[in-house]
Amino acid sequence: MSTRHTHAYTAIPPTDTFVTLARAENSPDRGSGYGRHAVWFFRALLLIPFALMAPEVISAIMGQPDGIANISASVADVLGTSTFLIFIMMLAVTPLYTTTGWRWHVILRRDYGIAMFFAAATDITLAAATTGDTFPGSPLTRVGGHTFLVAGTLATLLLVPLVLTANKRAQRWLGRHWKSVQRLTYVVWGTVLVHLFLLFGLSTIFLYALAVSAPLALLRMPFVRRWWDASRRTHSHRALRAVAGIALIAAFAVGYVPLAQELAVKGSAAFVQSPARD
Ligand code: HEM
Repeated sequence: MSTRHTHAYTAIPPTDTFVTLARAENSPDRGSGYGRHAVWFFRALLLIPFALMAPEVISAIMGQPDGIANISASVADVLGTSTFLIFIMMLAVTPLYTTTGWRWHVILRRDYGIAMFFAAATDITLAAATTGDTFPGSPLTRVGGHTFLVAGTLATLLLVPLVLTANKRAQRWLGRHWKSVQRLTYVVWGTVLVHLFLLFGLSTIFLYALAVSAPLALLRMPFVRRWWDASRRTHSHRALRAVAGIALIAAFAVGYVPLAQELAVKGSAAFVQSPARD
């Protein structure tokens, strides 16, 4: 194994947090051509949810008829699905490193974490402002009038300490407690799954969410992570890793593809300001 790869392994601790640690940010292959372009491509994707919602928001601000009602019909579908997809991409960063040893993408963990916060914050703000037709009452009722709303709101609020501490200064200030704060990511994960279970029961979106979550959770188990990491570095168990990798990607795709389709359908309807009212 080359020195560069040995360094690649040691440069990134097998941490699993909301942010990218300093040493990973300064990793040597961050500047490599393809990696840099890929990073910007994945960053550009983060604009999609906001672009999809922009026409409805602008119409509402301009006082167009149906402006508010359109946002109300779109917001949870477009921003809820986007927030979840961004979260999943963020959670995929560490397993991708474990299985491939790639490092170019590690910087995206922080970007995706911060974008997730902004998508969820926009979601809750628009929900509080516009969903009175579905959840009559005050803005508080619109974000907390049902158990599934409480779960969505809680998940969003839990992102606040995560995003506030997603920087090196907070990391220095919190010292060894920083990791504990970042572990709130797992509480967010569980809370989002509760939100989706309460909404959909054992069907559709909740099952897709479980399907994308399962491989990401499995690859975080210390035993699995250590085994994969060690066999990758020693080039052993290649066939087993290939078969396991294909099975994990397949499980991930079973959940991810329908969620991305949902965003494409609901998002394009929102973009042309013609959301389905269900
Ligand atoms: C981390 C934050 C959140 C995530 C990841 C999330 C995720 C999701 C997802 C994936 C859906 C399914 C969308 C679909 O049917 O296409 C959904 C639905 C929904 N969410 Fe959230 N959500 C979050 C926060 C919130 C908040 C803050 C609220 C409101 C206060 C909310 C209210 C809803 C409602 C009402 C639905 C049902 C939409 C429908 O099927 O008509 N969510 N959420």
